[in-house]
Amino acid sequence: MRYGFVLTALLLFGFAANAQNKPKKISPDLFGIFFEDLSYAADGGLYAELIQNRSFEYSPADNRDWNSLTAWKYQTDGFGYGTISVETAAPIHPNNPHYILLDIQDEGQKGVGLENSGFDGIPVKAGKNYDFSVFLNVISGESLPVKVALVDKNGKELGSSSFTAADKGWKKYAEQIHVNFDNDSAKLVLLIKAKGKVGIDMVSLFPEETFKNHKNGLRADLAQVIADIKPKFMRFPGGCLTHGDGVANIYRWKNTIGPVEQRVEQRNIWNYHQSVGLGYFEYFQFCEDIGAKSVPVLAAGVSCQNSGGTWRIGSTGQKGIPMDEMKAYVQDVLDLIEYANGPATSTWGAKRAAAGHPAPFNLEYLGIGNEDKITGVFEERFRMIYDAVHKAHPEIKIIGTVGPSPNGEDFEKGWKLAYQLSVGIVDEHYYEKPQWFLKNTARYDSYNRRRSKVYIGEYASWGNTLYNALAEAVYMTHLERNGDVVRMASYAPLIARIGHTSWNPNLIYFNGTKVFPTVNYYVQQQFAANAGDVYLPGMIKLKGEKATLDTTAGASFVKDSATGDIILKIANAGSTQISGQADLSAIGKLPESATLTVVSGNPEAKNSADNPQAVLPQSSTIKLQKKWAFTVPAYSLTVVRISVGTIRKQK
Ligand code: AHR
Repeated sequence: MRYGFVLTALLLFGFAANAQNKPKKISPDLFGIFFEDLSYAADGGLYAELIQNRSFEYSPADNRDWNSLTAWKYQTDGFGYGTISVETAAPIHPNNPHYILLDIQDEGQKGVGLENSGFDGIPVKAGKNYDFSVFLNVISGESLPVKVALVDKNGKELGSSSFTAADKGWKKYAEQIHVNFDNDSAKLVLLIKAKGKVGIDMVSLFPEETFKNHKNGLRADLAQVIADIKPKFMRFPGGCLTHGDGVANIYRWKNTIGPVEQRVEQRNIWNYHQSVGLGYFEYFQFCEDIGAKSVPVLAAGVSCQNSGGTWRIGSTGQKGIPMDEMKAYVQDVLDLIEYANGPATSTWGAKRAAAGHPAPFNLEYLGIGNEDKITGVFEERFRMIYDAVHKAHPEIKIIGTVGPSPNGEDFEKGWKLAYQLSVGIVDEHYYEKPQWFLKNTARYDSYNRRRSKVYIGEYASWGNTLYNALAEAVYMTHLERNGDVVRMASYAPLIARIGHTSWNPNLIYFNGTKVFPTVNYYVQQQFAANAGDVYLPGMIKLKGEKATLDTTAGASFVKDSATGDIILKIANAGSTQISGQADLSAIGKLPESATLTVVSGNPEAKNSADNPQAVLPQSSTIKLQKKWAFTVPAYSLTVVRISVGTIRKQK
């Protein structure tokens, strides 16, 4: 057997053998996730909308090849004719200015209309229902018959529905389409079978089954894979997306709530478009659904320093919101707290209630700034926001920012400012080689415990091999060891659509129908799902070749007070096995068995669309005794969960 726990009698350390080995409280929120609308993470990703450019708001500003008709085709297949134009004169709402005007002079045999190709095609499943809706404004013509159908590439109908549009002025029509055949790349066709003039906007199609079946909901399979991490928190909506490409592109949370047809869409800094259909309400709701604390991050009143492509000339693109607009901006920040936590009778709490959530979302953390260049322009605005939030909401834990690197000028200046203002937590970011993570396992040992705590808001080693994931795992055992000063950590980025990646590596890849968790994902999952709030040092003694851990390995013992469970993790990114001994006598009565989970294999192995299961965690049950010895293989992460809590409850 490649892997075996040998049960032997060995006398080792207890919980409180000496002062250094004393159990210590660590953060209960250590391992979470970082969501950024990057690489089609929102539209074409987690947001379950299947129609691309549903509101005709795409433009060359998003992407130089795009316009209002991107992903659309004018449909006159049955020899109908008329004209199609993109208009802005009388939209549904000024926030959503573009719509289509069809002037049908002859409906032909099939009707005249539009076809949408979705995001790389529209995936549909036989036997499932799809919720279609559209806003129409019948300008001339009486009772226009409308047919909406899902078709395959040869025009074969997979499902359809028909209705009549008659009302002058914008009206929403909603239909359900039952699909009879599987297809991964269907198109949606909307045809009007009569002469007339009609405005068309907000053409939408969702699977009836979304995550937790919310309307305007999230893609169920992708959301579930994220939920399965069991993250303690979720940061959103970025990343660079938060502070934006120039002041006008800063992500404004108020633009992303309310009826979807009234939200303010905008260019995505990663060169595509944000429909903001997945907006702040949906983010809060998703966090609640998956049991993760929400960690919104708002711009610190400045745009990204790389705005306008200026990273090439030293990141000189940071611009501040004009000072005469900062009062209103600060108020927006305060209003977000009211939106999340205020009573349903408050101005912003009422908007949350109107969206279907009268109870507060219990916001606890708020990020101000994203790896900004620490300049005078930044500092002035950060202080204004920080002081206002701190004064009005001392209960909110504010997260400051210390630049994009693990050291350097912005890092130093950011920490200095955090000390001056006594910012509770600061956000460190680093993307490095796996060797960096292995060399820096002691990084937080010397951090001052009486000053700001750390949120490692973005980190990853450059790659998705098992070796990368194990370097991260080793580092994470040391984050647990330093969990009294490291309050939170999130691998970044979280998800990316294959064929649309603006950044690599990511934790999860997906296409229209499948989700591919990386090996790094399984490491994150093991740590988040097996987190604790008390660190138990000195419980393991190593023997043999690796009698002391070098930096290619790490081990941690934690206790989860909520369940009473004890969890051991041993990460080995080295090429030799590790043997050791553990003494569980201090735990008291033990269950007969424990769950052992191992992630191991060839260090170069990675999960991909072609080989999605190259490395998977393997779980088994092991017999448990108070004193036992173990051997973990080279290139492995081992997690042992001892359900002590269950035993205690049974007493
Ligand atoms: O995670 C990808 C990007 O990396 C984030 O948007 C940014 O904050 C960082 O530079």
